[in-house]
Amino acid sequence: MAHPFFDIHHSYDADTQEALLERWRRVLAHGAFVNGPEVRELEAALGQLLGLPEVICCSNGSDALVLALRAADVGPGDEVLVPAFTFFASAGAIARCGATPVFVDIDPQTFLLDVEDAVSKITPQTKAAMVVHLYGYPADVQALTTALQQSAERPIAVIEDAAQAIGAVHEKGTVGGMGVAAGWSCFPTKNLGAPGDGGFVTTDHAEVAERMRRLREHGGGRQYYHDEVGYNFRMDSLVAAGLLELLPRLVGFNAARRLGAEHYRQLFAAADLADKVQLPTDHPGHVYHQFVIRVTQREALRHFLSERGISCAVYYPLALHLQPCFAALGGQPGQLPEAELATEEVLALPIYPGATAQQREELVTAVAEFFA
Ligand SMILES: Cc1ncc(COP(=O)(O)O)c(C=O)c1O
Repeated sequence: MAHPFFDIHHSYDADTQEALLERWRRVLAHGAFVNGPEVRELEAALGQLLGLPEVICCSNGSDALVLALRAADVGPGDEVLVPAFTFFASAGAIARCGATPVFVDIDPQTFLLDVEDAVSKITPQTKAAMVVHLYGYPADVQALTTALQQSAERPIAVIEDAAQAIGAVHEKGTVGGMGVAAGWSCFPTKNLGAPGDGGFVTTDHAEVAERMRRLREHGGGRQYYHDEVGYNFRMDSLVAAGLLELLPRLVGFNAARRLGAEHYRQLFAAADLADKVQLPTDHPGHVYHQFVIRVTQREALRHFLSERGISCAVYYPLALHLQPCFAALGGQPGQLPEAELATEEVLALPIYPGATAQQREELVTAVAEFFA
């Protein structure tokens, strides 16, 4: 049996397809294809679900991060601390604002930004830090904010990259409401995936929300009058309609991911592979956008599994300070050892809600065979 890494069809069963077509017919009827009534309805529904007062829907998660950074006044001449081990958009958004990403190493257990290393990289130009709730693990935004401010003796804006963490919960506050603002992604493979590109920003601050709303539409409060240069980062009504249909299922999707993660843990424990396979650190509020193990013979294992029809993925194969587009910043191999080692060892196992117990059993059996 072939084991896909991800299967979108689980989200779009026959009933969902029918309901979705009905919603799309309503969009066709009113004809407001961009930022239409569905977008406003979705903003309200997301706000309620996340427990955040301000939600602004936009084109995708990458643009959401640009909105969040711009609303924190990040621009040319500023430095922004960002983990070197994350999806490219976390740093790409900083560069798109004209600022300089300053790459920080990671904690090898959680894969999140290493707070001590971040503090050591503060300079007079440090304007902000981007914290990434990577793989759906909720980061301690409060601890980072406090550490940065104590060391710098001035406020440093923390922006949350919550693209992979919808539904994640932290005991100290609401994910997406602990920094100045947060960017989220609804790319089809995310925990709440849209039938298209989509994203949103959240904040707890009304004035930040107002600015992000303006920036989303060319920086104007009134049509054809522009206070600053913004963007066209609007959301399509068809995408919002799709997300409204899927949103009520998010809690179930995330619960299925957590159950899958727990099952993997049981299977790996029973297979007695603790000295070969490092399992991801758990947190009660983790939503397992990815279930990522660490192994020293990653490429050989991946090949072995793939020959048995089992697909896994590598997030991410090259640390950001070593990406060609950032070469001018002077990143060198060996500078951020934990981030670099992670790129060689991480392997994401299938964890989408429709993955079956049998798939997980076969996968762990194959991993045990590989190490035998
Ligand atoms: C951590 C992280 N940040 C930002 C993004 C960007 O989101 P999008 O693909 O919707 O632009 C993603 C998407 O993969 C992501 O995983």
